Amino acid sequence: MEFSVQTANPAKAETACLVLPVFKGSDLLPAVAKLDDASERLIGQLLERGDFDAALGNVQLIPFAPGLGAERLLLVGLGKREKCQETAFIKALDAALTALVKLPIDEACIAFTDVPLEDRDTTWKARKTFEAAERAIYRFDRFKSSPQKAPSLAKLNLIISDADAAPMAKQGAALGIAIGQGINLTRTLGNLPGNVCTPRYLAEQAEQLGRGSQGALEVEILDEEALEALGAHSLLSVGRGSQEPSRLIVMKYQGAENPEEAPHVLVGKGITFDTGGISLKPGEGMDEMKFDMGGAASVFGTVKAVLAIKPKLNVVFIVAAAENMPDGAATKPGDIIKTLKGLTVEVLNTDAEGRLVLCDALTYAERFTPASVIDIATLTGAVIIGLGHHATGLLSNDDDLALDLLDAGEAAWDRAWHLPLWDEYQEQLDSNFADLANIGGRPAGTITAACFLSRFADHFPWAHLDVAGTAWNSGKQKGATGRPVGLLTQYLLDREADAQVENSDD
Ligand code: BES
Ligand code: MN
Ligand code: ZN
Repeated sequence: MEFSVQTANPAKAETACLVLPVFKGSDLLPAVAKLDDASERLIGQLLERGDFDAALGNVQLIPFAPGLGAERLLLVGLGKREKCQETAFIKALDAALTALVKLPIDEACIAFTDVPLEDRDTTWKARKTFEAAERAIYRFDRFKSSPQKAPSLAKLNLIISDADAAPMAKQGAALGIAIGQGINLTRTLGNLPGNVCTPRYLAEQAEQLGRGSQGALEVEILDEEALEALGAHSLLSVGRGSQEPSRLIVMKYQGAENPEEAPHVLVGKGITFDTGGISLKPGEGMDEMKFDMGGAASVFGTVKAVLAIKPKLNVVFIVAAAENMPDGAATKPGDIIKTLKGLTVEVLNTDAEGRLVLCDALTYAERFTPASVIDIATLTGAVIIGLGHHATGLLSNDDDLALDLLDAGEAAWDRAWHLPLWDEYQEQLDSNFADLANIGGRPAGTITAACFLSRFADHFPWAHLDVAGTAWNSGKQKGATGRPVGLLTQYLLDREADAQVENSDD
């Protein structure tokens, strides 16, 4: 998506469509009021007559706009002014852009940065507008014999009333496009079926990102032979029952001025299909376990955003990829495996496989002496019971890191919620036969899963994001959401900003 920023009077804007946000039962926004004045009160009259109800998310196309520079107008309801916060703003944006991309036009003007939102500046509103635009043009129809026509919208112009805000609007637009495209890559990888998106396919995606990066991304793939030699038996134990070989994928981005600067590490769970293994899952809805690489997909999406934004910091991206299947060679309940760290694990349930691939990836991360390590995983059904589909579960061994992630989620409006990781929970993982068990019983399933990971994260500040409830939608809207690319990218940008403050201090 291309962008531009215009400070013209919206009545004069020459465009195929002008998108105008309207509050219900309140004054028109300044830009909309200007246009209203120039058009014999076209909008004011529509509202008065009740022909347009500005309830949140309602849209109305006005296909002719005589006397105006625009060929069409698209009115979008913001709902009541007092209720207009982030969630409402984004809902209105999504409604506007969903309607806009259905029109046979290739550019449009949008006046959303004027909408008043407490604590949100023009940069944020511009960023969200373009994120929404990228999400709206997304299609996943490569397996349909007759795909619908792709949206023709290729350029969106932001209409802003304050010329001084133009640099902020431009910065926000560029960020929104980068993050939106990262989100869309994450959605595509998630949506791809398990028979296409295998561990080797993910490795190939990494190679492709590396090739397209002009040297900015260094990629290393560890195959099963390399993993065996390394001693990553826990990761390997998960793929044992599958015909598809496992992979550990490592991507390095060196953006800091000082190449020695400690990197931030993102680790993604990449189970390309989770049958549960010998502890087989029930059949209903099992197709959705193709999304069990959602954490890995969000790591790839963040790589894409980072390559576009080019922040000045070092990041290592790791994906632990395997397919969890039952066959004669599969790991069985009761089997004991030795992890890369050397700890032994009694596998009491082969369906608790995510932690088994992640623990070796966390141990691998240690070699980078990281500033922080964050793993992202569709780890537990229990997080859906606790938080539903709105918040990502956050657990950490470091309260400062947890706060940084909560802040990033709030800033990006891709929010997480902090759960406790108290020592009291650890004993649920006691095993009679090995150093620890891979499950901790029914109580606090999300917490005991994180407790398991914490045993492998004792050498660095670490946080775990359980995205089982947020990485994809079920039902009619079934599909990957692209979360938490917004949160992760924001976290990295915030660390870049921190480093710049530190550097200017000395
Ligand atoms: N990938 C699943 C978690 C999951 C389940 C995500 C349902 C989204 C929807 C994970 O590998 C898993 O199976 N976890 C088990 C752990 C249990 C065996 C301790 C779970 O949550 O049931
Ligand atoms: Mn599982
Ligand atoms: Zn899983």
